[in-house]
Amino acid sequence: MPHEVGLLAGDPVGLARLGMLVTELTRAARAGLRRRSGPLPPLTPDELAAQVRADLAGGVLPRDGRGTAAVVDLVRRYAAGTVDLADPAAAAHLQPPALTVAVSAEAVAAAFNASVDTWDSGPYAVELERHVVRALLDLVGLPATGDGVFTSGGTASNLHALLIARDAAARRLGVDPARGWPARPVVYCSAAAHFSTARACAVLGLGADAVRTVPVDGEYRMRVEVLARELAALGDDAVPVAVVATAGTTDYGSVDPLRECGILARRYGARLHVDAAYGGGALFSDRLRHLLSGVDGADTVTLDLHKVGWQPAAASVLLSRDAADFAPHRVDYLNPADDGAAGYDGLLDRSVLATTRRADALKVAATFLAYGRDGLGGMLDACHDLARHAERRIAAHPRFDLAAGATLTTVVFRYRDGTDGVNGALRRRLMRSGTALLGRTAVPERGVHLKLTMLNPAARPEDVDELLAAVAAAGAEVAA
Ligand SMILES: Cc1ncc(COP(=O)(O)O)c(C=O)c1O
Repeated sequence: MPHEVGLLAGDPVGLARLGMLVTELTRAARAGLRRRSGPLPPLTPDELAAQVRADLAGGVLPRDGRGTAAVVDLVRRYAAGTVDLADPAAAAHLQPPALTVAVSAEAVAAAFNASVDTWDSGPYAVELERHVVRALLDLVGLPATGDGVFTSGGTASNLHALLIARDAAARRLGVDPARGWPARPVVYCSAAAHFSTARACAVLGLGADAVRTVPVDGEYRMRVEVLARELAALGDDAVPVAVVATAGTTDYGSVDPLRECGILARRYGARLHVDAAYGGGALFSDRLRHLLSGVDGADTVTLDLHKVGWQPAAASVLLSRDAADFAPHRVDYLNPADDGAAGYDGLLDRSVLATTRRADALKVAATFLAYGRDGLGGMLDACHDLARHAERRIAAHPRFDLAAGATLTTVVFRYRDGTDGVNGALRRRLMRSGTALLGRTAVPERGVHLKLTMLNPAARPEDVDELLAAVAAAGAEVAA
């Protein structure tokens, strides 16, 4: 057992040592970053795997530890070999560069290692999560009588939302969902919805065919007239459990008609869940919040601050308009009733998917306090401006075909004269060189496309121009 000063991070000596170690490690990380000139290491997956193998030649779990010198070394190599999301040429996924303020608060949260399941596991963290949840309810326009819970991501938030919807439908029918349904449970979402809805239905035992995919219009929004027809045509042998509307589809940033979805869901006794994992961030922006009009009619809302919110993962929140959705859950050794009656209650019953739960609210509260709503809105507006700039450049470029312009911060396009293979290969070519990182997707009936996901508020229009020039050059090389 190592007897060293500052062994444990959360006491005063440990915190002092943590500060020094973080200084040392961030210096090492900067040295690692200097070794490269783009968002990815200029290595193939095989070369990278070989490098990690060589770096860990002595084994990742040696019998005798090598002390912090080994950590400094590891972090330098890690920084050289990982993704650099702050590079303006990183524009692939809904994975933003993290805010320094949020990361620093995250480090402190980790040092104290509080958990929000019980009051005594993290008193301040518990209270802070309550405050952040209330602020987000207000931002979304849900009543203060609602509640919410931080989760490990949008996938988990959507799963929890559909669990709540499933159980609400089962209660309405007076059945135990574990014993089968008297009528087929049905969940609607658009063809552009995130796959987590379908997976949640499978996990929840609703069956793979529970999900009914509603077609989208030319702007990738759910066609509500089709939803209305499908709901009207349901017989007595089916029970509508939920309508999942997406506010910010992963590829296009499109927003389903939330108000109309809500009206239809209510008419047929289903719940409206809004997956605003991506688009929820628009609520920070005076310019873009109108896109989410109608979100205040949702029963539940998924909001990922590790997307538009620039938090290190994870910072997802599931919000509900009805606090009763989070059913009481008492465990003798965690939150006995008499402790609860005396006010010693944590947030155990908010979370069905985790018991130990990180103090993610600290980094979020830190970010909110440091930048305010307008600060975050300004960051989104900057990304939106960049996406619109990219859209204009792509539309005017002789080698590109624009498939979808910027609703939020994504632009979908294709290298002209290129087959699916060329578009896929040009992206890999850029990854191989390490110089640029684009997203890709398949546009229905139109094949492989490229995607820019602009989430770097510090990037400049010239960076976008450079990135597009690199794409055009790679396209020409691959197509030649
Ligand atoms: C619309 C939407 N919902 C849910 C998710 C899942 O989020 P997570 O990756 O945090 O689980 C994503 C991820 O991109 C998304 O775009």
